[in-house]
Amino acid sequence: MSRFALPCRGLSTAVELASDATALPGDLDALVIPIFATDDSVEIPTSTTKVLEDDHAEALLGSLNAVGAKGSAAEITRVPAPEGVDAAAVIAVGLGSEAELDAEQVRRAAGAAARSLNGLEHVATTVGDFHFQAAIEGLILGAYSYAGMHKEEPKASETPVKKITVLAENAEEDFELAKITAEGVCFTRDLVNTPSSHLYPESYAAILEEEATKVGLDIEILDEQQLKEQGYGGIIAVGQGSQRPPRLVRLTWNPENATKTVAFVGKGITFDTGGISIKPSSGMEDMISDMGGSAAVAGTVIAAARMKLPLKITATLPLAENMPSGTATRPGDVIAHYGGITSEVLNTDAEGRLVLADAIARACEDEPEYLLETATLTGAQIVALGARTSGVMGSDEFRDRFAEISRSIGEPAWAMPLLEEQEQDIKSPIADIRNVSNSRNAGMLYAGLYLSKFVAEGVQWVHVDIAGPSFNKASATGYLPVRATGVPVRAFLATLQELAK
Ligand code: BES
Ligand code: ZN
Ligand code: ZN
Repeated sequence: MSRFALPCRGLSTAVELASDATALPGDLDALVIPIFATDDSVEIPTSTTKVLEDDHAEALLGSLNAVGAKGSAAEITRVPAPEGVDAAAVIAVGLGSEAELDAEQVRRAAGAAARSLNGLEHVATTVGDFHFQAAIEGLILGAYSYAGMHKEEPKASETPVKKITVLAENAEEDFELAKITAEGVCFTRDLVNTPSSHLYPESYAAILEEEATKVGLDIEILDEQQLKEQGYGGIIAVGQGSQRPPRLVRLTWNPENATKTVAFVGKGITFDTGGISIKPSSGMEDMISDMGGSAAVAGTVIAAARMKLPLKITATLPLAENMPSGTATRPGDVIAHYGGITSEVLNTDAEGRLVLADAIARACEDEPEYLLETATLTGAQIVALGARTSGVMGSDEFRDRFAEISRSIGEPAWAMPLLEEQEQDIKSPIADIRNVSNSRNAGMLYAGLYLSKFVAEGVQWVHVDIAGPSFNKASATGYLPVRATGVPVRAFLATLQELAK
């Protein structure tokens, strides 16, 4: 056991599979039944016969109509169970119109359903009858909630349902894949939700070591001494203002049947004050989430190992705390990155690109075919695309493909260009490049261009700016919780699954 552990994991639900209703106990709290919207009423799918006899379904339809259920997407309607049904209540989950049904609609509806079950002990559901994997993901992701650290135990009404039994036949393999995916997302959420009092480079590296070892990954951790000796000037420059020294974590999955090589890099700033270019105090607390890129990569690689994907995957995670102090990097300093490229640091709050530059250069040394990198990199991402849509930059084809895959699994993302005109802005008179532009234009794209300087020729790469999407400051909806979201773990896993084909 390591000296470090997460002080609190998100509360979640045990989701299990059963092939038929005979295994269910007689005292279920609820049956969770999907329903469709029709022109004038709602429809109970025929597959529901596995939990409700025809006359029970008839009675349920009567109750749903009586309370005005519409069956619209993610609508939740709770009614008493019809006489003779072995459950206290029926919770109807709207899936919208059957003709327009897609996986994301099911994922959101299942998420909304799971969130409506707080305080219950055990429910059974047939929501997996439509887009099974999406339904499982939605249930697990929707049930997740981060309780934090309180003196008192949370109230029952605030804790997720203890157990959800999903009724489905011959679905073991898909169930396992969906569960591993959702658990990867939840692990990422746990890391991102953890305050910087508890998560800092040393403790973060130790937690990753423990989790990675469990699933058979190789792990290497460089401490500040080794980082200095090996020339990681970006990570050192960002970490040197903090009492808590930086780390570089490398996780490797290398199965014998690997067909392709994939590198991941993720920004791991455990807290971003801005450094000497200090941020305004209002909202600074959100910067506990500035390690969201590295957490998503860790969640992805751990899930990929559990899925035993036939790919060689190496994650390179630069971890540092960006603090102002007498030892901090100053605006105007010049640093040398891993591999030798020099940067003029004009703004110490543009620190993500400094640590990523070293990590990307290191990752490219292994000559991967693909490089996927993600970071809570720029406020400009939120200005350009809003809080929920990731900005995707990189090599043309892979960038476009990744953005498409991401949208297809319900993580909004949009391809963005790198700008030729910024090639002029990025030049420095005293170093190879400067870490911020003189212009306020297109800050997200400038950061992407900066990173591109460290990507080796011929590598198919994407940079995913998740400044907004990694953390939800609004309220929960569907399977999207408040605070950490776990974006872009599912897009990464879907991409790996495609590369593994
Ligand atoms: N971590 C921030 C970016 C960020 C902002 C993430 C809001 C999540 C929400 C990053 O290190 C940063 O401070 N970027 C600066 C760059 C600027 C100095 C060129 C920014 O976006 O203001
Ligand atoms: Zn910053
Ligand atoms: Zn930052």
